[in-house]
Amino acid sequence: MRITIVGCGYVGTALARHWHQQGRHWLRVTTTSADRAEELAAVADSVQVLDAADPTGLRQALQGSEAAVFCLAPSGERQVEADGYEATFLRSMQALAAVVGELPQLNQLIYTSSCSVYGNAGGLLEEDTPMQPRDRHGEILRDAEAVLLSCRSPSRRVAIWRLGALYGPGRELQERFRALAGSQRQGNGAALTSWIHRDDVVAALAFALETGLDGVFNLVDDAPISVRDLIDLTCRAAGLKPVIWEAEAAPAAEAGAGRRVSNRRLHGLGLRLQHPRLPVLEGRPLAPPR
Ligand SMILES: NC(=O)c1ccc[n+]([C@@H]2O[C@H](COP(=O)([O-])OP(=O)(O)OC[C@H]3O[C@@H](n4cnc5c(N)ncnc54)[C@H](OP(=O)(O)O)[C@@H]3O)[C@@H](O)[C@H]2O)c1
Repeated sequence: MRITIVGCGYVGTALARHWHQQGRHWLRVTTTSADRAEELAAVADSVQVLDAADPTGLRQALQGSEAAVFCLAPSGERQVEADGYEATFLRSMQALAAVVGELPQLNQLIYTSSCSVYGNAGGLLEEDTPMQPRDRHGEILRDAEAVLLSCRSPSRRVAIWRLGALYGPGRELQERFRALAGSQRQGNGAALTSWIHRDDVVAALAFALETGLDGVFNLVDDAPISVRDLIDLTCRAAGLKPVIWEAEAAPAAEAGAGRRVSNRRLHGLGLRLQHPRLPVLEGRPLAPPR
């Protein structure tokens, strides 16, 4: 199959490497930076420098491809202004919607969204739980999904994976929380967080392609973890100073406590996770940072 991966950062590059090693598909990948073209040429048959918000460039990137995977994010793990979100997520999906009609061979669109689309929604978060964006960022993610879903047709499937927080090689938990060691934190850390390993994201994206998946699916592991357990267990396992929780004895629920993302639909697909629980919950030693 001919595939284009639009956005080759942490996930997109790992997916390209996976397919390149398999050698079963013809692969085009994109980067916004000409400086990365050489690096990406090692994992693809073709590299195109592209801002996906440019309809002309996007049409070229998708020309001839039967499937496209969009793994876009404004800039790694940094906090980004809403304008950056809009430019990356929404403008790219609008550019796609503008050109997709000229690409009749493009019969599947696969996209990495985020569980943050649920925003302030509470309780068990299933894929059909109404989204309640918390801020402009959330509205943009919601709107980008809607524009992408408008590209669906009888001959074109759209698969959206809503990811939990990402971790994996090069994005180890202890590195995220190192700066917090020994610090004082407000609240009791009761809110649950959901995580997903990079390799399970790669497997889910590949599964979507192989099965011609259509629909919206949460992509989180089996064991949501409270912010407090996450930080405390990670600091302990990594030999870091513990965090001091200000509301040490306060049993009061915090915003988000009790809400959890469901992965029931994911399991219904028969997709087995390689990392169903965070390493800190397994009692396994943490992977050394890379
Ligand atoms: N990180 C998390 O915890 C998390 C949580 C939930 C969902 N997600 C989603 O998971 C997906 C993968 O995340 P990631 O960590 O792999 O992201 P990442 O490492 O930041 O990579 C994103 C890539 O998007 C590309 N990009 C940015 N703006 C673009 C544009 N206008 N046109 C074309 N390409 C553009 C960048 O390409 P260049 O490098 O070439 O500039 C970058 O490499 C994203 O969709 C993200 O929203 C992530």
